[in-house]
Amino acid sequence: MDFTKTMNEYVQAAEAAVARYLPVPEKRTAFIAEAMNYSVLAGGKRLRPVLMRVCADVFGGCPEEMIEPFMAAIEMIHTYSLVHDDLPAMDNDQYRRGKKTTWAQYGEAIGILAGDGLLNYAYETAAKAFDYAADADDMKRIAEALRLLASKPGIGGMLGGQAVDVMSEGKPLDKPLLDFIYKMKTSALIECSMMIGAVLAGADSEAVRTIETVAEKVGIAFQIEDDILDVTSTLEVLGKPICSDEKNHKTTYVTLFGVDGASAYVQQLSNEALGLLDTLEKPDEFLRAMIVWLIHREK
Ligand code: IPE
Ligand code: IPE
Ligand code: MG
Ligand code: MG
Ligand code: MG
Repeated sequence: MDFTKTMNEYVQAAEAAVARYLPVPEKRTAFIAEAMNYSVLAGGKRLRPVLMRVCADVFGGCPEEMIEPFMAAIEMIHTYSLVHDDLPAMDNDQYRRGKKTTWAQYGEAIGILAGDGLLNYAYETAAKAFDYAADADDMKRIAEALRLLASKPGIGGMLGGQAVDVMSEGKPLDKPLLDFIYKMKTSALIECSMMIGAVLAGADSEAVRTIETVAEKVGIAFQIEDDILDVTSTLEVLGKPICSDEKNHKTTYVTLFGVDGASAYVQQLSNEALGLLDTLEKPDEFLRAMIVWLIHREK
């Protein structure tokens, strides 16, 4: 398997799906559609829609037209989370995906509304999958996928994690609380992506639970690596400011254990995720390669 070539194909398919479902600017509300599309079109690694598609493929695949609305929707929700994460009241950052953040470009009110708009439009988009359901089984799978798309980004997931994260600024945190915050703020959307892929492909509930635990570990490792890059990378490479965590007095894995300790934990979590995949007995070669690639990523 040529990892880079296959990865590029998955990313291109995700880009196309995302672009296809963006809101079309119209008349008096054109400016808000433009602000919504601004950060989505600025780029990004598209990891969540790619992970969704890869997980569907692990379980035998799913018709493109049924999964693509969900791929676009998860990228809209992820982008909304970043648009709001960058706001002055949150991390107060000026650059994202190599461009001015949405609020820095359009002002704070439009930054807030563009985020809200993306969140709402994600559900409007995902619901389009029903138009392509072939039978009652498809309907059930889409309904289950929508349930995940509603719950994982919310109070029991990403939003809850972001809330505890901002309220913990300036406070010393221990490892259990940090693990809780990372599982919520970052793993939740990765769990959402990977589980929806599995569900739409018809994986049984035990396999979906395994995927959830794999995604939880991948998500925590992903956030710790993000914290490491916050102190070791550059604005040019990341496309977002470095030392944002220090500026906001955040306790991270790097503060608690140093870069080496944090890296060792990333490696451990990834090994645990790979070990769990061994129990699936499914062709998951590319997913495994992707998990290994994630811990060595440069941005
Ligand atoms: C950034 O996510 C937020 C975190 C959870 C660390 P990504 O690193 O996936 O950001 P993009 O989508 O590539 O911009
Ligand atoms: C939170 O982590 C990411 C979200 C859940 C939105 P960070 O605040 O560290 O993300 P970056 O570094 O700004 O991308
Ligand atoms: Mg943040
Ligand atoms: Mg941030
Ligand atoms: Mg960060």
